[in-house]
This record gives sequence, structure tokens and C-alpha cells, in this order.
Amino acid sequence: MRAFKVAQPHLFFLLNILKKPPGKKLVYQLPHINISEIAVKFQPPFLEAVKIMEKLPCKSTAIIETVRGNKILNLDVPFVPTPLEIVNEMLEMTHIRPGDRLYDLGCGDGRIVITAAKKYNIDCIGVDLDPRRIQECRINTLKASVSDKVTFLQSDLFDVDLREASIVSIYLLSNINLKLRSKLFNELRPGSRVISHDFNMDRWLADKSVSRGNHSLFLWTIPANMSGNWRWTLPFFSENLKFNIEIKQHFQKAHASIITPENALVKALSICGDLIRLKLQIISNRHRVPVHLSGNITGDKIKGRFRISGMNYENWYASREKNSKTNII
Ligand SMILES: C[S@@+](CC[C@H](N)C(=O)[O-])C[C@H]1O[C@@H](n2cnc3c(N)ncnc32)[C@H](O)[C@@H]1O
Repeated sequence: MRAFKVAQPHLFFLLNILKKPPGKKLVYQLPHINISEIAVKFQPPFLEAVKIMEKLPCKSTAIIETVRGNKILNLDVPFVPTPLEIVNEMLEMTHIRPGDRLYDLGCGDGRIVITAAKKYNIDCIGVDLDPRRIQECRINTLKASVSDKVTFLQSDLFDVDLREASIVSIYLLSNINLKLRSKLFNELRPGSRVISHDFNMDRWLADKSVSRGNHSLFLWTIPANMSGNWRWTLPFFSENLKFNIEIKQHFQKAHASIITPENALVKALSICGDLIRLKLQIISNRHRVPVHLSGNITGDKIKGRFRISGMNYENWYASREKNSKTNII
């Protein structure tokens, strides 16, 4: 709490929040402040302060009420634009490929969407609840001459169907990221990337994170659900080895245990998008023989190739036992 005693007038409203009883949700009214003033007044202290607040046991939540005409918008996050050099870094981290489709959830003035469309020539969709932001996006799109590549939706980000997205960018808050997490897992295809400015996803650890001055960036790849019992047969010299392996998975982290054959060990397992890589060791006549397998999952099947030490690659097919798949989030 002492951290707030620094002379930062912008933090006073937050101090008021912190004095409320824990567990109370409250609407913090900012009646005379319009959204652009919020950006100016609380940037960067607003988000800095929220970051500090999230580390405290106090669970109060500030809802930003913004008046638009005679309507009140309950924004989950105020408008604070990502600096352009950080936008460029975020886009580089996602390794954009032709055919990607980027959604910026809470797109502000459209800078992420417009930069991605202009620099990488991909289709982009910006979503913001605030009509003023969408208006700015449209003007900025015209100025950047990327109208054919970008679409803006005035909508709550939780109502947007993400099944067509291959990249999602966000600059929200930790509690909103957490609320969004299951939607990302349910709607995005394995291999899709999620890039977040400043706020992480709690127990879903980032695959990559970088710091640039005061800014942190977090990147995740949506993993396929590989959990369950998998079976396959491998020709191993003169015999056919029947494998039965159980995979336990939590987000992108997976652990495999061999049920059969008894003379095999799992040395490494990784899951990236829909790609699984497995390194086994088979003990045969006191020799430890490494076997490398890699393949892509579709439904309950894996199709790929394997290689027994010193031999050629061959096809690998595996299938998952019915009803053995479990929830990974
Ligand atoms: C921190 S700004 C980020 C703007 C932009 N993505 C960037 O990085 O420059 C968050 C934006 O989310 C929008 N927003 C807040 N709650 C939202 C919601 N529930 N649905 C859609 N947009 C929302 C705000 O209007 C604001 O423009």
C-alpha cells in the first residue's frame, strides 16, 4: 500500500477504490471526464496503477463509465494507445504469414490493425465498444489507404466470433484477459497466436515474453488438445511394438507416460499448435535406441513420421482412445 503514497495525483481515485471493503465491486464514476481526458490523465499511471492494484489482496474492480450522447458505455478498459514502436514489435513477434487474419480486441484508434494491414498486407478486424474509437479508426484507415484490408466492428469484444482469426492482439487488463482465456481456447484454431501488451494470462504461461522499457509483451500459441490415451504400432527391427501412451496436458504443457511397451521411455514431449514432437528411448538387448516421432493432430488422429536411430523416416499414425480426452484449461 505504501507504494501509493508517492506524489501522483492520478492515483487518488485508485486510493479511494483500495479503501473500499475487499470483494466489493464498485462503479467508479468519472462524470466530468471524457474518454480522451482519461487517456491523458491516466496514461501511463492508470494502467501502472491497475497493475499494482492487481498484485494486492484487494479485489475491487473499477468500471470505466463513459458517456456517449445519452448512452453510458461500461468499458472494461480505458483507451490507452500502444506506442507505435511497440505495435511494430508486437506484430513482429507473431511472425505474420500470408493468409493470416488479425483481430484486435479493443482496437482503440485502430493503430494495430492499420499497421498490420499496411505492413503485412493481411486482412484485419478491429473491435471496439466505443463508437468514438470506431469513428477514429475509419478516419485513420482512409488516411492510411488500407480500407480494402480492414474492417471495424462496434461491438463488445466478448460477442465477436473469433473462429476466423489466426492472430488476436490485446491491450486489456489481467482480469479481462482471464475472462477472455476460455473464449480464445474455444474459438481459435490450434496454431493461432495471441499477443498481449503488458498483461498476462495467469497460469497460462506465455511461450515468449519480452520487455521493452516499461512495456512487456506476451505471446502464446493456441495448443491442440492432445490429452488422452494414444495407441500406435511401430516396426522395430524384427518385431512390431504396440504403444499405448497417456498424455496429460495443462494449457500447452504436456506430460506423457508409457503404459506399453515396458521397454520404452519418454525422453521429451512438446506441443506447438497442432504439432506434437515426441522423443522415446527403447531398450533393446541392453542398447538404448532413440526414436523420434513428430506429427499433426486432427480430431482423434495423429499423422506424421518417425525415425529409429540411424534409419530412414517412415510414416506414423496414432489414434486416441474414445472419451480419453480431458479439458486442458
Ligand atoms: C488500452 S486500449 C487499447 C487500444 C489498442 N488496442 C492499442 O493497443 O493501441 C483498450 C480499448 O478497449 C476498448 N474496450 C474496452 N472495453 C471493451 C469491450 N468490452 N469491448 C470492446 N472494446 C472495449 C476501449 O474503448 C479501448 O479503446
